Amino acid sequence: MTHALLLENRTDTTATWWRQAAVYQIYPRSFADANGDGLGDIPGIVSRADYLRDLGIDAVWLSPFYPSALADGGYDVADYRDVDPRLGTLDDFDDMVAALHERGIRVIVDIVPNHSSDLHEWFQEALAAGRGSAARERYIFREGAGPGGSEPPTDWTAAFGGSAWERVEDGQWYLHSFAPEQPDLNWDHPEVREDFLTTLRFWSDRGVDGFRIDVAHMLTKDLTEPLPSKDELALIPQDGNHPLNDRDDVHEIYAEWRRVFNEYDPPRTAVAEAWVSTPERRARYASAEGLGQAFNFDLLVADFDAQQFRSIITDNLAQSDATGSSTTWVLSNHDVTRHATRYGLPPLEREGEKQGTAWVKAGGPADQLDREGGLRRAHAATLLLLGLPGSTYLYQGEELGLQEVAEIGPEQRQDPAFFRGADFDGLGRDGCRVPLPWTASGPSFGFGDTEAHLPQPSWFAEYAVEVEAADPSSTLSLYREALRLRRRLQTEERLEWIETGRADVLRFARPNGWQIVTNFGSEPFDLGADAADVVLGTVVDGAVPGDSTVWIAPAGLID
Ligand code: GLC
Repeated sequence: MTHALLLENRTDTTATWWRQAAVYQIYPRSFADANGDGLGDIPGIVSRADYLRDLGIDAVWLSPFYPSALADGGYDVADYRDVDPRLGTLDDFDDMVAALHERGIRVIVDIVPNHSSDLHEWFQEALAAGRGSAARERYIFREGAGPGGSEPPTDWTAAFGGSAWERVEDGQWYLHSFAPEQPDLNWDHPEVREDFLTTLRFWSDRGVDGFRIDVAHMLTKDLTEPLPSKDELALIPQDGNHPLNDRDDVHEIYAEWRRVFNEYDPPRTAVAEAWVSTPERRARYASAEGLGQAFNFDLLVADFDAQQFRSIITDNLAQSDATGSSTTWVLSNHDVTRHATRYGLPPLEREGEKQGTAWVKAGGPADQLDREGGLRRAHAATLLLLGLPGSTYLYQGEELGLQEVAEIGPEQRQDPAFFRGADFDGLGRDGCRVPLPWTASGPSFGFGDTEAHLPQPSWFAEYAVEVEAADPSSTLSLYREALRLRRRLQTEERLEWIETGRADVLRFARPNGWQIVTNFGSEPFDLGADAADVVLGTVVDGAVPGDSTVWIAPAGLID
């Protein structure tokens, strides 16, 4: 069989490839640094294309790589249709798409429509043009309150802490739901709407397969005067009419985007980052007339607990059945404490939803961290996720079993949430964004040939790709084997629960007989005769040990 045919076999070439895809999130500035400036870049991704192929994922999602002052890790976009010169050029981007496509890997890029960077030409124009100008209409400028308008128009707080309003030289204030360097765009403005359609076409024309939509639930706003206070806002139900969050009218935007996605063959896909109040509200983003899919963060904020997992899985599958979308599963991303660490800490305390974005807070002091237990439970949860119907999003470094990095001094931190007083464990989100270790030695463990932009701790050596690739019992070997088997076992998007007689053991079967058993407890769970059919995970004396998952495939299912 030729190489090209092999690739065809590994790739779902249908228009619905996304429904059960394993998608790997790349945080480009921390993946691989080809030009030695300490920041990861696009040629770095190309240099690791074989690694991505060997991992066995179906698609990559790239966090922003656009020109940016990095006030929020690239989520402050200065130009939506270019590549940050420190990360490469548009030609490099095209080369990357080609390199990934050749390896059967699809490409999803991040679109950040709620806000631009304050360095975006539109915002610079708005500042220069002054109050009352047409240029200011593309953002949300208001007069201040109090004597001489010297106080912010409202007492609203930004997601990263501090006031949600910033004053400009001539005395007006602008709204920023996140950092002050991220002014919110005015989605009532036709030019804003039009410009994003241009951006979607720009990347689709370059061969991008799909989009991840940043804070998709926050774009439209009802800013009719008088504006409510922060306390009043908190009392307004999130039922589609809230002034700032998850408004029904946001779906008019996505219906328009869908028409653009459907201009392409296959249609471009999209996944919403929408931290909304219920699975029902989330389903609206996932509809076929809208973005098509939405992140489901329910497991990410759950404990490692069989009953919580079971009810979340059941609810979300019912929801995707009702909408015709497929469900998504996520345990880690660039905004939350890595799940190997979360599962190694005493019962979690959680921050609730903060202005549309929820953050997971790991409880307990770091000295209570049980690294081994955390990693064991992370493996168990990930293998369960990869067995579920729907798509699974993996975050770079979790395939190495990386823990959250706590060893970052205040002067080395970059996350605006750390500096602006939002809690985020008191540490912010830098700990999951530290550049990957590729080799056990070198100035940045093979990330590049110089020091990395965030400090890597010495224990990263143990987790290096070269070390794990050579060790059949490593996390990397487990992910590779799981993703390889998943392709062969994948089947219709359904499951059936099998009662286990134990509240702490979950077992389910997919329509072709593939079974997943997760033991969330500590007592071994006996498998009887099925122990002989275990294809993934460890069985000890015919039983599934505590904190672990096995996959069972009857003879004949995999040749
Ligand atoms: C999303 C991103 C996060 C970013 C925020 C503002 O939640 O995932 O990283 O800080 O939006 O763009």
